Amino acid sequence: MSLFVGLMSGTSLDGVDGVAVRWTRDDAPAMQVLGHVHRPFDPRLRGPLLALNEAGPDELERAAAAAIGVAHAYADTLEAVLSQTGLQPDAVRAVGAHGQTVRHRPQASGGGFSIQLLNGAVLAERSGIDVVCDLRSRDVAAGGQGAPLVPAFHADRFAVAGEARAVLNLGGIANVTLLHADGRIGGFDTGPANVLLDAWAAEHRGIPYDAEGRWAASGQVDAALLQRMLSDPYFQRPPPKSTGRDLFQANWLKAHLAALGRAPASIDVQATLAELTARSVADVLQRHLPDARGLWVCGGGALNDHLLARLAALLPHLRVQTTEALGLPPLQVEAVAFAWLAREFVERRAGNRADVTGAKGPRVLGCLYPA
Ligand SMILES: Nc1ncnc2c1ncn2[C@@H]1O[C@H](COP(=O)(O)OP(=O)(O)OP(=O)(O)O)[C@@H](O)[C@H]1O
Ligand SMILES: [Mg+2]
Repeated sequence: MSLFVGLMSGTSLDGVDGVAVRWTRDDAPAMQVLGHVHRPFDPRLRGPLLALNEAGPDELERAAAAAIGVAHAYADTLEAVLSQTGLQPDAVRAVGAHGQTVRHRPQASGGGFSIQLLNGAVLAERSGIDVVCDLRSRDVAAGGQGAPLVPAFHADRFAVAGEARAVLNLGGIANVTLLHADGRIGGFDTGPANVLLDAWAAEHRGIPYDAEGRWAASGQVDAALLQRMLSDPYFQRPPPKSTGRDLFQANWLKAHLAALGRAPASIDVQATLAELTARSVADVLQRHLPDARGLWVCGGGALNDHLLARLAALLPHLRVQTTEALGLPPLQVEAVAFAWLAREFVERRAGNRADVTGAKGPRVLGCLYPA
């Protein structure tokens, strides 16, 4: 049986994506996505999850309650995927469930960690399906970043021998996968994407995100603010590296605005944030994969026409497309990667790429709550 469900919710905190994926053979990459559902987070869950990204009182109690809330949101998404596809729970070999990241400190002194809230027991209880979760901890325990995990799947799915290719996921954070022509693989988080764009659009326009990047597209880039933000040491740090809301969130932007000593128009800040994402990605591709001719974009940011246009302008030697051109719609890629990770777990194959995360070696990722 080779049917897996992937459940994913990322740093944007927009909601849960669920996919059902069938692999035709246990040892081959040929696969078919049978269904995809996106369910936005209920604001009564999103609010507490967002708050848990910062230290505060009574964290253990709040985290435990939120982990149960995440499990129910995941179970609801799973049920919607099953009803969309007409699949019965016993047809699914396992669910790969990411959980909601609230802390990502892979290099904390005294031992790194990465916390994805999700009560796996509740999800197994509600679904009656094997649940594979906590997919980052083992890589971190082996000295890795625990992130990004998706380059291993991108390599499995999108690599072509003899051709340098780049894959870019524009989620809350942006991460690239560098598929070198000689078969080597790289990948890391390049910096913020939607997490700052969404926060600014919500604060100044009362909208959850800047649809197609139209607001950003009508503003002017503030060169001084852009330079100031690009001077954050994260952008120059050599890989392996990963980041999250621990660093890039509204207060990071506010600190840069305060240091600027004047208040640019809110529309120009949005334009500058979009440029920050485009520039930080373009710099990485020029430096790390200069021979690439194609860039394939996935994640919700793939719908941001302005960002894609800026990437194409900054990288004129690259053809910029979404992963749709490779047969996988951009909004499905991350969730499919977690179905793939569940499959790797079941087959007891390593889910990490040590050359990406910096772990000591390949490791089987995840922890099982049996059905
Ligand atoms: N039509 C659109 N135009 C512009 N941006 C969009 C559009 N639709 C979605 N987005 C952006 O995509 C985001 C969601 O993307 P996605 O689900 O890939 O991110 P994520 O959940 O943070 O995942 P991860 O960080 O793990 O990659 C939204 O918060 C929004 O900013
Ligand atoms: Mg999302």
